[in-house]
Amino acid sequence: MRINIKENISLKPYNSFGIDVKAGRFVSIKSIDDLKEIISDEKDFFLIGGGSNMLLLNDIDRIVIHINTKGKKIIKQDENHVWVQVAAGENWHEFVLWCLENDFGGVENLALIPGNVGTAPIQNIGAYGVEVKDVIVEVYTIEIATRKETIFSNSECKFGYRDSIFKNLQKGKYIITGVSFKLTTNNHTIHDNYGAIQSKLTDRHIDVPCIANVADAVISIRTEKLPDPKEIGNSGSFFKNPIVSEKHFNKLIQEYLNIPNYPVPNDTYSKKLAAGWLIDQCGFKGKRYGDAGVHKNQALVLVNYGNATGREILNLAYKIQNKVQERFGVALEMEVNIIS
Ligand code: EPU
Repeated sequence: MRINIKENISLKPYNSFGIDVKAGRFVSIKSIDDLKEIISDEKDFFLIGGGSNMLLLNDIDRIVIHINTKGKKIIKQDENHVWVQVAAGENWHEFVLWCLENDFGGVENLALIPGNVGTAPIQNIGAYGVEVKDVIVEVYTIEIATRKETIFSNSECKFGYRDSIFKNLQKGKYIITGVSFKLTTNNHTIHDNYGAIQSKLTDRHIDVPCIANVADAVISIRTEKLPDPKEIGNSGSFFKNPIVSEKHFNKLIQEYLNIPNYPVPNDTYSKKLAAGWLIDQCGFKGKRYGDAGVHKNQALVLVNYGNATGREILNLAYKIQNKVQERFGVALEMEVNIIS
């Protein structure tokens, strides 16, 4: 076979947690044809994209396929919009910067989210009032069983909060090879309702923000609050923000008057809580256990200070889950995929 398979490769540079496990065999794929070829030869494989939403516990026996396809192209345009098709292996933030250079609006609130374009739909990445589902038109995939190219429309992806069909019903059945987005070319919709964005814009005396101003605000908030995976290994939010019943919430707010809470769309009987706040209240913020720790500015983010193992990070996550359950009666669900 002409595809270059490497042996005994450390996956440390390929996962944003910086966990040093090994792949017995590793291949970086640059074209969809090569991808089809490799999955027809290899029946059992492990896919890695941006590696930004996984915690690796052990060396990987299966061949590791790194999706490294590149390319962005404009496929359609009208007076106010542009449709852009992007290869799965493109880095998400570089794509956001490219959109800003071209004055394409829609993804500016999602600046600096780690990971790749192809993995963004899986967990429906979101930040500061925008989710990627708001701009996705279609998701291009290969069905693993048949190696057939299959396109999912936005509604077929069944997007939800940090959720999509690729995370549940169709988990492990498709490989995402590209995503198309519908972006604005003028009359941009500005999403600046989020408190932190508003205060940044006010500090900068910006009354009528453009998309670049919003992106700059997001970049500056994220840089202040969230660790850069290139410096300190992390996977962004480790847990999802939990949803509790109204009854449970009414009990909690009697004791914790300032508990941050948000409405749940289409569900008036539940409330969403801030996992970061719950963890912070339990005293974990800034705590360090060996090389595993809880970030000092955002308790929702677990970090690897250098040589933590996946197991050490996971043990810390369990410790946090137990404490939050004990104190608030709330079960925290992990957002990061645990790979054993
Ligand atoms: N809070 C604390 N202590 C903390 C962290 C948060 O008290 O250590 C409080 C904050 O003061 C605030 C509330 O908790 O009242 C919510 O915090 P924040 O605004 O930072 O947002 P979040 O709910 O913790 C979510 C996303 C982030 C996203 C931000 C901004 C999830 C799981 N996380 O965090 O996403 O950047 O909103 O939109 O939904 C990611 O998914 O990797 C990620 C970083």
